[in-house]
Amino acid sequence: MKPLHHLLGIRELEHDQIKHLLDLAQPLIGLSRRPIKKAPALRGKTIINLFFESSTRTRTSFELAGKRLSADVINISASTSATRKGESLLDTGHTLAAMQPNVLIIRDTRAGAAHFLAGFLSPAAVVNAGDGAHEHPTQVLTDLLTLQQAWGDVSGRTITIVGDIAHSRVARSHLLASARMGYHVRLVAPKTLLPVQVERFGCELFTDFDAAIEGSDALYMLRVQNERLESACSFPSVREYHEAFGLNMRRLGLAGEHTVVLHPGPMNRGVEIATDVADCARSRILDQVENGVAMRMAVLTALCGSGLAGSRKRSGRHHGQAMEAQGTLL
Ligand code: NCD
Repeated sequence: MKPLHHLLGIRELEHDQIKHLLDLAQPLIGLSRRPIKKAPALRGKTIINLFFESSTRTRTSFELAGKRLSADVINISASTSATRKGESLLDTGHTLAAMQPNVLIIRDTRAGAAHFLAGFLSPAAVVNAGDGAHEHPTQVLTDLLTLQQAWGDVSGRTITIVGDIAHSRVARSHLLASARMGYHVRLVAPKTLLPVQVERFGCELFTDFDAAIEGSDALYMLRVQNERLESACSFPSVREYHEAFGLNMRRLGLAGEHTVVLHPGPMNRGVEIATDVADCARSRILDQVENGVAMRMAVLTALCGSGLAGSRKRSGRHHGQAMEAQGTLL
């Protein structure tokens, strides 16, 4: 398996690397449930969270993941960074790199921002925490961990993703992950919220939500991304959107007993998902949040463990595996 130097997108990951991250994350779920939520794995490492777009789950889980593994974690947001004074991403990147971080996590409205930084930030590792409508790899890895908990294995399963596909980096990363991990994706959306030529990803397309439900193992609801909608006419009204594309109890009743409900958050209750569905026993939405911390711990461990994240390359076995073998990870 190739060592992980950066985590820029699912596109850059191989099946074995995804599997390795899932295997690393699984035992780390327990760490957050302990009375003392601390392990020494990343002691002495520096992690910078650079968030130019709002975030609750992703930013907090990266911060907790780093801190629970004993790294020093710094948070920078758009409102407190020098970009407010006109500094370019290139200069911000060089400035932060001069402080010798091991990992730089970036969320940005611009697609390609993480790839851009990775091009010159070496030896620091770069993690894409969401770049415009392009990719959101750690959300999808978190979803796979959650689905693995529900089913054991995702391969051969069908995940139906519903809503604002056109603006969703989560949907895009799932389409890429489905090819690596052998699951099927169905997309349900109004025609105005489907990207052009999306069928080349090999997924099934539906404009009728009811017709897509039978045979779905997961119903994955997406937020309508008002901040990325260029016009207000992508669908007639919130009420009509909910009627046609919202998940309510009637629709959930059309699904098999085993079918689970996911949402990456933040939810628009009453728009893409009814409140009783969001809070019902088949909803795994809060499991996604909990697993997000473990998956981000796994990503940070794999990156720092590769020996390339701001320190000299180690020979032989990857440091992450060595730490596990010595039992020091937990
Ligand atoms: C998603 C995102 O930011 O892309 N949320 C998240 O990271 N938990 C989805 C969204 O914003 O709708």
